Amino acid sequence: MAVRIGFIGTGGIAGFHINNLSKIPDAKIAAVCDVVKEKADAAAAKLGATAYPDFHEMLDREDLQAVYVCLPPFAHGQPELAVLAKGLALFVEKPVAMDFQTLKKVTAAVKRKKAITAVGYQDRYLDIIEKLKKFLEGRRPGLILGYWMGGMPGVMWWRQRKLSGGQHVEQTTHIFDMARYLFGEVKRVSAVASTGLMAEVEKYDIEDCSAVNLEFHSGLVGTIFSACCLQTGGRCGIDIFGRDYTVEYKERTSIKITHGPITEETRVANDYGLKEDQVFVEAVKNGDGSAIRAPYEEGAKSAALSLAASESLATGKFIDL
Ligand SMILES: NC(=O)c1ccc[n+]([C@@H]2O[C@H](COP(=O)([O-])OP(=O)(O)OC[C@H]3O[C@@H](n4cnc5c(N)ncnc54)[C@H](O)[C@@H]3O)[C@@H](O)[C@H]2O)c1
Repeated sequence: MAVRIGFIGTGGIAGFHINNLSKIPDAKIAAVCDVVKEKADAAAAKLGATAYPDFHEMLDREDLQAVYVCLPPFAHGQPELAVLAKGLALFVEKPVAMDFQTLKKVTAAVKRKKAITAVGYQDRYLDIIEKLKKFLEGRRPGLILGYWMGGMPGVMWWRQRKLSGGQHVEQTTHIFDMARYLFGEVKRVSAVASTGLMAEVEKYDIEDCSAVNLEFHSGLVGTIFSACCLQTGGRCGIDIFGRDYTVEYKERTSIKITHGPITEETRVANDYGLKEDQVFVEAVKNGDGSAIRAPYEEGAKSAALSLAASESLATGKFIDL
């Protein structure tokens, strides 16, 4: 029997997962919900699913096994708690929340329910990251530089601090998460930011650029840069510097490892987004979440890291994690 799935939120990223799930025979999308009724209706019509404007109603009426929460940062919390209260598996898009209280509440409910969970850090499923992890075994780097630098996404909530938390919380979280996935936990952060280059943009009140310094428990240090004001150029990824090697990870594209005199470049060859959904569906079907690379607790730690950076921006101080 296929796993019966519901969606809360039917915007851009929901479409990505819906497309992936259509390629997975063990998955059946039974219901979709969006506060914009027309969006829920349109998604449901394509899928032969039932549309709901309210997630409580969907959860009460449908016999689901798993729910994808594909909502903007400001809308997290109540949907996850309602899904977990029903004893269902939970897939949540990043960032899982934009405040520490929601992170704590949902993490506690996940533990209480022993729920199968996943967070949409799809980069953890890249084949080049498996290769990079192997290369880094036993090789401690001294410095990393991470980047998410480019233009501003078009959705109106993204540019407003109270709705998105700002770029480092909403978008650069992929780089913070990858830094944790590769190098372990961060001890403390400090951050600085610039503003004022995008004054003409309607409702825009977030940083144009920021630099977040990280000190890891391992002794590694690094800086993660964000920029959403670029009209040309850009850069996403992580540069890694060890004593006798350097690595250039171009996000979702390639890794270039220079070790002594040899440089080897490897490009992404797998459908990592599809794999992320396959692993989740398989976990729900088998009742075993051990193959999921970013369960909720992991997503919560990555969110907490960028929220600590926000706190540093607000206070001008180092923040301990
Ligand atoms: N993992 C990735 O690579 C990746 C890529 C893109 C987006 N995302 C993340 O996905 C999240 C959503 O982004 P998006 O681009 O889909 O946004 P979007 O604005 O396109 O879609 C969000 C949808 O949620 C609906 N919604 C809002 N509140 C709701 C509620 N309480 N109940 C039901 N529906 C509600 C909106 O009407 C909208 O249709 C963001 O946090 C974003 O960072 C992740």
